[in-house]
Amino acid sequence: MVETRGPFPQTRMRRNRSDDWTRRLVAEHRLSADDLIWPVFLREDDDSEAEIASMPGQRRLTVSEAVDAVGRAAELGIPAIGLFPKVRERLKTPACEEAVNPDNLICRGLRALKTAVPQVGLVGDVALDPFNPLGHDGLLDGERVLNDETVEILCRQALVQAQAGCDVIAPSDMMDGRIAAIRRALDQAGLQDTRICSYAAKYASAFYGPFRDAIGSSGALKGDKKTYQMDPANSDEALHEVALDLAEGADMVMVKPGLPYLDIIRRVKERFAVPTFAYQVSGEYAMIKAAALNGWLDGERAMMESLVAFKRAGADAVLTYFAVEAAKRLRAG
Ligand code: PBG
Repeated sequence: MVETRGPFPQTRMRRNRSDDWTRRLVAEHRLSADDLIWPVFLREDDDSEAEIASMPGQRRLTVSEAVDAVGRAAELGIPAIGLFPKVRERLKTPACEEAVNPDNLICRGLRALKTAVPQVGLVGDVALDPFNPLGHDGLLDGERVLNDETVEILCRQALVQAQAGCDVIAPSDMMDGRIAAIRRALDQAGLQDTRICSYAAKYASAFYGPFRDAIGSSGALKGDKKTYQMDPANSDEALHEVALDLAEGADMVMVKPGLPYLDIIRRVKERFAVPTFAYQVSGEYAMIKAAALNGWLDGERAMMESLVAFKRAGADAVLTYFAVEAAKRLRAG
């Protein structure tokens, strides 16, 4: 006689995990190249420092190298890229004039890319840190980062970038009121189709270290960014930030960093149901790369696991330095 009762579990969760085909069938989330935005660092042609020691696998690219690399990224199905400039030291000034120079490195990059790879969305970072000798995102009065004066120059920075071909203006500065001001400036210039992706919930994080190396601002940074970037202890405040930026006209919002803030992505997505992006920042990339290079973990699996985690949390897209590597992996199947 068959024993029907007994110590056996009624529900066996493992059944649906037992073959590759069932696992694929029941998968709730799937990463695709369509979800990836690749952040690209630009350097001047005569700047020989291409390697970024703390970001193995990423290089600072000249404009013409970027045209080739972004062309290849497009072939892999990556819909959009972000641009970050390493500005010449002598062009960094307290008034950050270079940020609004229509011929600066970022604008030259935007124009070249818009012409060569028009099908790729161009995301332009708007903030003053690459242009400020002290590495802060705004104008300074002594040690104080000025808000309203900074917003004025950010509007001009957004305009020169949009006029150079930037599709998505992405203010990463965390000044108050900048989304409304930038929206107004763009509209008045006839740029009503230029989108704004607000870094709405950006935390004062230790995970930005390698990025600051990449744009050459790390040695310069005086103090920290805690008077404008958010306290990692806060979560309701992120919702408040997002509500304000949406009311001011943001088309998409971003949470940054990524993995340590998956709870914020989830709350933002659930509350507002708007396009929500995550930024897997330089330090997150560096951690996985460093561990992989040491043979301490399987870098490719850690990369793919971290990226699907963003989808699970509710992100619609992820800015990630892994974009090209992940897109290749996805293509290989
Ligand atoms: C600055 C900016 C930062 C990043 C993107 N834009 C650094 C900062 O706020 O200091 C970080 C990105 C990364 O770490 O990958 N406006």
